[in-house]
Amino acid sequence: MAQILIVDDDAQLRKSFVKMLEQEGHDIRTANSGESGIAAVRESLPDLLVMDVRMPGMSGLEAFAHIRKIDQRLPVIIMTAYSTTETAIEATKMGAFDYILKPFEPAEVLNLIEQALEAGRLAREHVEMGPEPEAAPAGALVGNSRAMNEIYKAIGKAAPTDALVLIRGESGTGKELVARAVYQHSLRADKPFTVINCVAIPDTLLESELFGYERGAFTGANSRRVGKIEQADGGTVLLDEIGDMPLNIQAKILRLLQEKKIERLGGRDPIPLDVRIIAATNRDLEEAVAKGSFREDLYYRLKVVTITLPPLRERMDDVVPLAEYFLNRLSVEMDLPNPGLAPDAREFLRSYPWPGNVRELSNTMQKALIFNRGVALDSEQLARTVDAEPDTAPGQGNGDQDGQEQGFRLRVRKALAENAGKNAFEMLMNKAGKLIISEALAITDGNRTRAAKLLGMSRPTLAARIEKYDIKTSTKVE
Ligand SMILES: Nc1ncnc2c1ncn2[C@@H]1O[C@H](COP(=O)(O)OP(=O)(O)OP(=O)(O)O)[C@@H](O)[C@H]1O
Ligand SMILES: [Mg+2]
Repeated sequence: MAQILIVDDDAQLRKSFVKMLEQEGHDIRTANSGESGIAAVRESLPDLLVMDVRMPGMSGLEAFAHIRKIDQRLPVIIMTAYSTTETAIEATKMGAFDYILKPFEPAEVLNLIEQALEAGRLAREHVEMGPEPEAAPAGALVGNSRAMNEIYKAIGKAAPTDALVLIRGESGTGKELVARAVYQHSLRADKPFTVINCVAIPDTLLESELFGYERGAFTGANSRRVGKIEQADGGTVLLDEIGDMPLNIQAKILRLLQEKKIERLGGRDPIPLDVRIIAATNRDLEEAVAKGSFREDLYYRLKVVTITLPPLRERMDDVVPLAEYFLNRLSVEMDLPNPGLAPDAREFLRSYPWPGNVRELSNTMQKALIFNRGVALDSEQLARTVDAEPDTAPGQGNGDQDGQEQGFRLRVRKALAENAGKNAFEMLMNKAGKLIISEALAITDGNRTRAAKLLGMSRPTLAARIEKYDIKTSTKVE
């Protein structure tokens, strides 16, 4: 049972919501204006708020802004009769769970209400432990960006269904953490959770590790062995890095998914099994299918329920809260004082592209804590710390064009972060200019006439640029 607050000036609508939601076993309060809605939130701290935008007096969005200050994590569904993008954008920007257009049948939104309640439960989990750093549990999902809210919604939807879930995303985006959240909110939460990392086990051992073997199945198999998947019977198995799984194992996994049976190596009869599979990968599965390294039938089977974690650079609103969370948690774990973040550190955090995603952020905070000298972390210290990270930019150095462009983009972001407010544009243009001209000279063996032609500029312009960028050229007789 959840407590739901309905705020609308339309008495008829309030009534039908009350009737419907009470039937569902919820506890319903109502308010007929923004002002009384705020008072009701203060007083009864509901689990969900459903609120109209246009009301006499204070608008729903204004009331929403006040309510956000009272309870940051209260999921809010906004109702509006006027489908203006403005309201929609404004409402989502303010962190509404969703907005719905009037007129609608209250029953139509029932599903949405259940989703919002589940997302609210997930989002609250780590704050309800209390504001103290000690209480920030390892394993909580942090982040209140729109993108993360979509992830909470998706977890809420997928968790209780027992369906196969595929989790995708770049390395370090939190796939394993999401897999654990799916498990924790599933019907099998009280059964075991097993992580099988497909790349950590050598290919030659993977089959017997996963599926087990009968005595005498191969030389050295002196006794029967129950594989990891069979051991997890009744529970949940995360097949991590499934994109790297060899084809013969893929075939056996497909069989497990289709027939709910496995076969031990050297075994005669298939063994019925009841496990929930969650799969995760950072691989481009479509490409792997095209190349023939991933079975197409398995791919189609896996992708039905997919949760895709966006890279951290696409949810920059989460960076500072995550950084603070890691500082709290790691300082407790390592028993070091938490120096906190200086204002310019926040700026740095928000402008650095985090190619290694949340893992890079966590590592950076850990290093910064270790090397900190008791003053608030500032942008300079953070810039130095991320510089020391190995370059984890995705796609760098692999020669493909997208990868190179991505790498270039990341370098630009980094330069912007480090030179904020200075002449970053000039500096980057000069860098690019220097690079372009050096390359043209390299191609033409230092021949300025040909290089100028190649670049589509006059020879004197080229000469001026060479001087400006201070490019060393071996003077050649042309
Ligand atoms: N939203 C989040 N809130 C708190 N911690 C997070 C979040 N996302 C990721 N982390 C932390 O970042 C680290 C990396 O996450 P995780 O191991 O789940 O990433 P991954 O996507 O599985 O990476 P890989 O593909 O490299 O295996 C972990 O320490 C995890 O706890
Ligand atoms: Mg992982």
